[in-house]
Amino acid sequence: MGRIISTSLPCFCSLLRLILDEYEFTEGFQFGVRTASFQVEGGWNASGKGESIWDYITHNNPNFINDGSNANIACDTYHKIAEDVQLLKDMNVDYYCFSISWPRIFSNGHTNRPNEDGIRYYTELIDELLVNGITPLVTMFPLLVELFVNNADKLFYHFGDKVKNWITFNESYKICNFSYSDGILTPGYKQKGIGDYLCSYTVLIVHGRT
Ligand SMILES: *[C@@H]1O[C@H](CO)[C@@H](O)[C@H](O)[C@H]1NC(C)=O
Ligand SMILES: *[C@@H]1O[C@H](CO)[C@@H](O)[C@H](O)[C@H]1NC(C)=O
Ligand SMILES: *[C@@H]1O[C@H](CO)[C@@H](O)[C@H](O)[C@H]1NC(C)=O
Repeated sequence: MGRIISTSLPCFCSLLRLILDEYEFTEGFQFGVRTASFQVEGGWNASGKGESIWDYITHNNPNFINDGSNANIACDTYHKIAEDVQLLKDMNVDYYCFSISWPRIFSNGHTNRPNEDGIRYYTELIDELLVNGITPLVTMFPLLVELFVNNADKLFYHFGDKVKNWITFNESYKICNFSYSDGILTPGYKQKGIGDYLCSYTVLIVHGRT
């Protein structure tokens, strides 16, 4: 990673059609597509959302990403629920895997005061997926054991009746190696042998507790 992926959904649609035309899959094979909140949502400060570590690093170190871009708008999926779900439906996928942006729901990082608009946004997205026959699969991501487990608790409370598939971490190897050892992903720590070790330890404890 290390750059913002902003390939448009229509582009993915053509790619998927190409793959489906070219290959045969066994009966019942389940297809899905996947996004990460920071890379697609935009609306970085909309309706009470807090600043994420990626917002912070791209706003304060414009050279962190090669071409100096940030994700203030990205694919603007925050404003395009109906349009994007329609594109997913056109692709005929069974699953849509997305991540929930921690600061969109817990603006100040803590779990005691959920941001109503964050709950509304993900509820509308999940409902739109379900009425279109697409199963949501959600990545939670945030670190730090207690905060993560409390965050997971709240997510299960708000969305657990509709979302039955959850992923705790996406690419934990990359998070721990690239963010805390090589420093090429935010928060950019270069602490080889310590940062990556502590990160992996935390990820495993959090996964178990959640
Ligand atoms: C997490 O998942 C998304 C979507 O599949 C991907 O774009 C992103 O690069 C992944 N990795 C990290 C470290 O965020
Ligand atoms: C949100 O951020 C944009 C820049 O991306 C800025 O122009 C705008 O004033 C901000 N809005 C609020 C409510 O802070
Ligand atoms: C971490 O990633 C770098 C590439 O960025 C690689 O050279 C290094 O071997 C990786 N570290 C571990 C412990 O795998």
